[in-house]
Amino acid sequence: MLLLVGLVLCLTSAHALSSFPQKFQVGNLDEDMVVKCNTSEEQVTWTLNGEAEPMAELVTEGRTLTILGLDLPATGNYSCWAGSVLLDTTYVLVRSTSPPGKEGMNISCQADSYRGSLRCSWRAPSFTVFRARLMRSNGSFSDWVHVAGRRGRFNASLIDPSFCPFAEELHPLQLHLEGLSDNSFINLTVHFFIRDIVQPDPPQELTVRRRGDQLHLSWAPPASWPLPRSYFALLYRLQYELPNGTQVNKDLEGTEEMSLQEDARRVRISCRDPYASPTWSPWSAWQEVEVAQQRGPAVH
Ligand SMILES: *[C@@H]1O[C@H](CO)[C@@H](O)[C@H](O)[C@H]1NC(C)=O
Ligand SMILES: *[C@@H]1O[C@H](CO)[C@@H](O)[C@H](O)[C@H]1NC(C)=O
Ligand SMILES: *[C@@H]1O[C@H](CO)[C@@H](O)[C@H](O)[C@H]1NC(C)=O
Ligand SMILES: *[C@@H]1O[C@H](CO)[C@@H](O)[C@H](O)[C@H]1NC(C)=O
Ligand SMILES: *[C@@H]1O[C@H](CO)[C@@H](O)[C@H](O)[C@H]1NC(C)=O
Ligand SMILES: *[C@@H]1O[C@H](CO)[C@@H](O)[C@H](O)[C@H]1NC(C)=O
Ligand SMILES: *[C@@H]1O[C@H](CO)[C@@H](O)[C@H](O)[C@H]1NC(C)=O
Repeated sequence: MLLLVGLVLCLTSAHALSSFPQKFQVGNLDEDMVVKCNTSEEQVTWTLNGEAEPMAELVTEGRTLTILGLDLPATGNYSCWAGSVLLDTTYVLVRSTSPPGKEGMNISCQADSYRGSLRCSWRAPSFTVFRARLMRSNGSFSDWVHVAGRRGRFNASLIDPSFCPFAEELHPLQLHLEGLSDNSFINLTVHFFIRDIVQPDPPQELTVRRRGDQLHLSWAPPASWPLPRSYFALLYRLQYELPNGTQVNKDLEGTEEMSLQEDARRVRISCRDPYASPTWSPWSAWQEVEVAQQRGPAVH
């Protein structure tokens, strides 16, 4: 019975964090941790999650508080006070002992161009919030981007404004992730080159015109793809459907138009970087081809 009460108390002391606390400190389970009150006061009093009751494993001295053998009930919001004046607040978390790991999280990133912007997504069902940032090749960090999850999935849009599309990419980009669950913290880093994760947006403005017995097709590169075209080439894959339903693919490089000798019902197009990542863009929407005029006898 006592065990049950203890268990319930433990469970209710856990509060799901929906954002990163302004100031937090991460410790290892069962290790001691020192929390300092950032103040010039000589003596302070402490509360944990608003409760003044000092726990047995908390030792206070002057402005410091020592947590002996950090455990889950000892995590939470430590505030120090001078009387009724709040001086400082530190959120204490424990390093996750069963991190899902990079493989378990299935982290994947894509860039739509060489402009330094990317989208990353990952899975971490037991975590409530993440933040993500990029480390640039010169060693400085971009700002943290906060990422709320939905059903254990997280998506982040990140930008490295210092990325230079014309320079050879000598150093991998580093993505840093930090995640919080009720009272635990994980921390990991993944490395990759933009050139390996580029997936262009679909080409745009695909148009089809009938010219006699031929179909004339033209298109444009995705708007997000950098210029000039001579430097940032694209390989195109055109797919068209014959009147009997057969689908045919044609790969083309260095052109934005072509003529088809065959008749087609509809066409769509995709593209990729010919020199780097082999990932094709999503397909453009199908373009229906207008039906050929029946060449019947002229009516007078
Ligand atoms: C921690 O407690 C202080 C004082 O009660 C409060 O101002 C602050 O918002 C709390 N922080 C979090 C992250 O709960
Ligand atoms: C301590 O407080 C001062 C003044 O508010 C602030 O400038 C400083 O960054 C704080 N230091 C820490 C470690 O929080
Ligand atoms: C990992 O992600 C890729 C692409 O986002 C997906 O195809 C694959 O099924 C995922 N694997 C797991 C185990 O979720
Ligand atoms: C993340 O992006 C995928 C694909 O764009 C979308 O299906 C999913 O709902 C997004 N998830 C979140 C949490 O925004
Ligand atoms: C790195 O590059 C960024 C953007 O160009 C710049 O703001 C930052 O000061 C640089 N950092 C170092 C350490 O050189
Ligand atoms: C997160 O990981 C990095 C690299 O391993 C480390 O330098 C940093 O201190 C870690 N952050 C925390 C809060 O543990
Ligand atoms: C569809 O038409 C094409 C060209 O007319 C022909 O080569 C192909 O064999 C046909 N496919 C089927 C399944 O009839």
